[in-house]
Amino acid sequence: MDEIQQNAETGKSTGTCTSVVGLHWGDEGKGKVVDLLAAEHDAVVRYNGGANAGHTVVVGGERYALHLVPSGILYPGKLAVVGNGVVVDPEKLIDEMAALEARGVSTESLVVSSRAHVVAPYHKLEDEVREQIASGATGSGAIGTTKRGIGPCYADKAQRASAIRVGDLLRPEMLRARLEVACKFKSTRLAGIDAGDALNPAALTARLASAGEKLRPRVRDTTYLLHDLLAEGKSLLFEGGNATLLDVDHGTYPFVTSSNCTTLGISTGTGVPGRRLDRVVGIMKAYCTRVGGGPMPTEQVNEIGNRIRERGREYGTTTGRPRRCGWLDLVATRYSVMINGVTEVAVMLFDVLTGFEDLQVCTAYNFEGSRTDRFLPDAVDLGQATPVYETLPGFAEEITGARRWQDLPANARGYIEFIERFLGVPVSIISVGPGREQTLVG
Ligand code: IMP
Repeated sequence: MDEIQQNAETGKSTGTCTSVVGLHWGDEGKGKVVDLLAAEHDAVVRYNGGANAGHTVVVGGERYALHLVPSGILYPGKLAVVGNGVVVDPEKLIDEMAALEARGVSTESLVVSSRAHVVAPYHKLEDEVREQIASGATGSGAIGTTKRGIGPCYADKAQRASAIRVGDLLRPEMLRARLEVACKFKSTRLAGIDAGDALNPAALTARLASAGEKLRPRVRDTTYLLHDLLAEGKSLLFEGGNATLLDVDHGTYPFVTSSNCTTLGISTGTGVPGRRLDRVVGIMKAYCTRVGGGPMPTEQVNEIGNRIRERGREYGTTTGRPRRCGWLDLVATRYSVMINGVTEVAVMLFDVLTGFEDLQVCTAYNFEGSRTDRFLPDAVDLGQATPVYETLPGFAEEITGARRWQDLPANARGYIEFIERFLGVPVSIISVGPGREQTLVG
């Protein structure tokens, strides 16, 4: 044990680290890839976001929609770690665990950082009020959040005085004192709103302490846990919530979420330094989608977009909202490859593109009178950019039954080869349907 500890502190550990990160605006199919890769890893670790994330995994024909619980939970025996960078709605987490248990999935291996911040009922109210105020008369300032209280919880983390962490749930007296302070702050902010018990410290203490008791056996210092695992030669798989273009620093601000969804968030969100990453798998769809507000240059508000939405079942896992759909934006994707240090790419939902005569891919933007092949992360700039497309030949064949590269029609292979050339990284996984078996691995 002493030796392991020493290794953890000196960083001379031997385990490996892989990260799975979305390259677009979320919903790329990370859950499926995490599920595939979990087989070769000892632990699956979430480092950012909260119940706003929605990962769908289909195992043996059963569909699981996960929000807070790492997707690796579906593999018996894998440790599922919720790191300190995640914002945890404890009641939602308990409900999600109960729903999994009811379907025969054990959640015994789930652990939660004592330093993860807690999403409280008032955060969801604040999220709603923020959206109402921002939408104003025109509706233009609304982000279209998931209303899961994510932004307000991260704001409290930075603000400190009104923050609650998972470890606080285990100390009811201290929790009560912290909630008294938090409610004072919130009362001014939510003045005039009927908050029910959401601003009542006694009621909140009872609710949150009860949730804390249920979670008590899972609460750990996950930073040491992860370093100890690495010191033992174990392999970690980091599962990013949300996606690169929603990153609070590198996404299309202000139409973003409130965390660092990129691999850059792994260091702060788990305590495992970025230099430990051996493999970064970037997940992209064969086209683009976006939920909520903000610019999306390749959006197709027409029959093309509708067809992608229906074939791809493009409705939110978390909120059920129809997703905005459009052609593949390779300028944005290449930016995401750069930001995350992506070493290989997985192309998901490729089967959705069957039947289009031609496929458009965006390879540059027209912006302020000239052409650029650089992404424009500022939302105002990106909103003014118009896509420059290259047209590739489509494919008519159904590809849901393809299992090997050779099974794909020539035009489908050409589309993938074009992506590889443009991004400068190999495509190592192609998904042609929701099932585990509907996957080509290169
Ligand atoms: P929030 O994360 O609820 O604050 O929402 C901020 C923005 O990110 C909204 O446009 C949401 O629709 C979007 N968003 C957050 N999480 C996800 C996700 O996992 N998939 C897709 N969009 C997301």
